[in-house]
Amino acid sequence: MTLAVSETVRALGNRSEEMIRALAEITETEGQITRLFLSPEHKRAAALVSDWMEQAGLTVSHDAIGTVCGILPANRSSSNKTLLIGSHIDTVINAGAYDGPFGVVAGILAVSEIQKRGIELPFALEVLAFGDEEGVRFPSTLLSSSAVAGVAKPEDLEATDADGIRLCDALKDFGGDPAATAKAARDPDSVLGYLEVHIEQGPVLEAERLSVGIVTSIAGANRYRVTLSGMAGHAGTVPMHLRSDALVGAAELICAINQIAHEANDHGVVATVGELSVEPGAVNVIPAEVVLSLDLRAATDEPRHEAARAIKQAADKIAAKHGLSVGFEQYHEVSTCLCADRFQNTAEKAIKSLGLRPLRLMSGAGHDGQAMSQLTDIGMMFVRCQGGISHNPLEYVEPHDMGLAVEALVRWIETIAEEERAKS
Ligand code: GLV
Ligand code: MN
Ligand code: MN
Repeated sequence: MTLAVSETVRALGNRSEEMIRALAEITETEGQITRLFLSPEHKRAAALVSDWMEQAGLTVSHDAIGTVCGILPANRSSSNKTLLIGSHIDTVINAGAYDGPFGVVAGILAVSEIQKRGIELPFALEVLAFGDEEGVRFPSTLLSSSAVAGVAKPEDLEATDADGIRLCDALKDFGGDPAATAKAARDPDSVLGYLEVHIEQGPVLEAERLSVGIVTSIAGANRYRVTLSGMAGHAGTVPMHLRSDALVGAAELICAINQIAHEANDHGVVATVGELSVEPGAVNVIPAEVVLSLDLRAATDEPRHEAARAIKQAADKIAAKHGLSVGFEQYHEVSTCLCADRFQNTAEKAIKSLGLRPLRLMSGAGHDGQAMSQLTDIGMMFVRCQGGISHNPLEYVEPHDMGLAVEALVRWIETIAEEERAKS
């Protein structure tokens, strides 16, 4: 890498860090980063991103579902297609600063560099800052990118959060338009593809001593709300063998889920119970009902379906043993999605041009690209994060790695432009 490129990478890395820090200040809980979909904090973050996009020379609008869209028109209209670049600005509860925001920051900085360097592209660029990648507030998940992809379901707008607020009402307060969300959908013929830069959220790049990598596919996932219902009773009077204790059944089920995922480890199956609610929830009452969340993922689809079947069978057995009833409500399913070869290959050229080894790896985490793959070809680049730690306030990415990722994104876009020109 020449001195000039190193200087550019350093400056891009430092600017990325400044922008990430500014977004991290926008949180509903002091001392943490929590920015849920359609919250007032999401709205403030969207406003900041809009300002940055305008400063970068983009024409900014907000679609009906709250996605910030910044367009850089093509210099020469040899194609009327748009290359989309995006990620999300919502977070999990007590999140790290980089998961999502870095992809948006990288998109804005790359587009800004493309203009500064006078790079002419035969397509338009559009940076998208989505709002519902995490699926933490409402049971919707990937709703913003699904709307852009034209696959959002109208019933998702009826979902309610833990406070009983309907998604469509939160969207109105946010400034969106529930009646117009179908208009957020893009015409597949107008789109060249979708690129996303995201932190790896796992340990592979760090172990390989690499700053960036090329994503081959994104693991499929199912999410369920599992309800176990038993019988409330007096903690002092009901003998153990006459109880239908929903929490005891839930505890056994959680262990069974863990065991099933361990046994299918070779297929990349992972299962997580991250939420648990117990009713009535009193020290001296036998638990009558437990609702738990189940997040199930795998590298390919069949092992995930197989694990889901095994978990349901285990749940039926456990329910019968404890005199409970059990129900699975699936509220999210996304299949394993492949990143397009042409975008993997152009990413490889871009990464090699920086003198870096172009490692290819899959993504166990979910991304907006999964929804976008229903609209167009997708490509993803990963950036190393310290210790592979994510969904945790300890999440950290070296500014130098972010600078390299932005530079790699600029070169990736240039390489795609060369290929498009060669085609015409
Ligand atoms: C999003 O980060 C997910 O994979 O759950
Ligand atoms: Mn993310
Ligand atoms: Mn996340």
